[in-house]
Amino acid sequence: MTAIVRALQADITTLSVDAIVNAANSSLLGGGGVDGAIHRAAGPELVQECRLLGGCEVGEARLTKGYRLPARFVIHTVGPVWHGGADGEPELLASCYRNSLALAAGKGARSIAFPGISTGVYGYPIGLAAAVAVSAVSSALAQYGSIREVIFCCFSAGDLAVYQRLLGEK
Ligand code: APR
Repeated sequence: MTAIVRALQADITTLSVDAIVNAANSSLLGGGGVDGAIHRAAGPELVQECRLLGGCEVGEARLTKGYRLPARFVIHTVGPVWHGGADGEPELLASCYRNSLALAAGKGARSIAFPGISTGVYGYPIGLAAAVAVSAVSSALAQYGSIREVIFCCFSAGDLAVYQRLLGEK
């Protein structure tokens, strides 16, 4: 059975999925954007667990509990800052998605939701980032049979339309 891959417009902290992915920074100690929203919703135990992880490299991912979130797990990944696209950004962004799926599958997660990693403060153009995200997830899913549902959680209608065009084209 192939996994369901879809795009939604929502606040990721409200999604009742097994794992939500956080667009973190390398300190893993919180920030603004979706990082701030996830830490606010999860409560103070989240940053306490993050402190024990010793940071995270760009393109890598780390798993924690979800605490007060509906999601069981938070997967923190650090996206690349956009510098024009010739600095390895696409490969690093793709590895954020691949590594997050690997951690989720390793915990037996059946559903996972991604925000638009790097498309806010980090400046990655949404059209380019969404194309990387959809192709990385589509090609990696075959390896992770336990994952039954992947949601691209968009914060704006504009971002949702970009993902829907890409997924519709598939
Ligand atoms: N739910 C879903 N998506 C959200 C939410 C939310 N509650 N809040 C923001 N977003 C969206 C933004 O609209 C954007 O499309 O998440 C996407 C990622 O934007 P950022 O949160 O700015 O993340 P990023 O661009 O990866 O920059 C990461 O920002 O918050 C800091 O600590 C973080 O330093 C790191 C940097």
